[in-house]
Amino acid sequence: MLGLDLEIAIVLLGAVVVVGYFVFASFVYGAGYQPTPRRSVEAMLRLAEVGPRDTVYDLGAGTGAIVFRAARTYRARVVGVEVEPVRMGILRLRRRLGSDEERITLRWGNLFALDFRDASVVTAFLWPGAMARLRPKFEAELRAGARVVSHCHAVPGWSPTTYDAGAQVYLYRWPEARAPATGGT
Ligand SMILES: C[S@@+](CC[C@H](N)C(=O)[O-])C[C@H]1O[C@@H](n2cnc3c(N)ncnc32)[C@H](O)[C@@H]1O
Repeated sequence: MLGLDLEIAIVLLGAVVVVGYFVFASFVYGAGYQPTPRRSVEAMLRLAEVGPRDTVYDLGAGTGAIVFRAARTYRARVVGVEVEPVRMGILRLRRRLGSDEERITLRWGNLFALDFRDASVVTAFLWPGAMARLRPKFEAELRAGARVVSHCHAVPGWSPTTYDAGAQVYLYRWPEARAPATGGT
């Protein structure tokens, strides 16, 4: 009986530690976590026409839903940036255990400190405030022909080339994206 109580207590303590760390990380790093759904990852990489000649920057790489798919299936070179240390540890472990190490670069730190000039494709699943902060950085650093794909949240003020409503994915092409939206009355 005592053994069962101890097991339950350990499980509960583990759950409290995991949830507590999640909340702590969300406040300390300003970074919530939710993996991009598989369907949306596919839509992002397909709409952006990612291929072996691309360099994909995943802004807020989490545990790698986009990073590893882009490198393994689409054969792209991928740079994943992530601020939260546990997720970065998981990313490094996954890269070490996989077979695509040479195509994946991982950066531990703030995505806003990264220079996007080398990116041909940028992927993001971030909070709306981060998308707003990213816009001037995109406009200053993206090269012509670069594509930006975002899950859930739009780049405010930009016109998407395509929006996949089922997968909730916006595709933008730079510099066409800065044109005002047309249509409607
Ligand atoms: C919704 S998750 C998306 C994860 C990943 N892209 C995926 O496809 O599964 C957002 C991630 O962005 C990270 N993040 C948020 N703000 C960041 C910042 N300023 N610098 C680096 N990473 C950040 C969070 O830690 C979190 O892991």
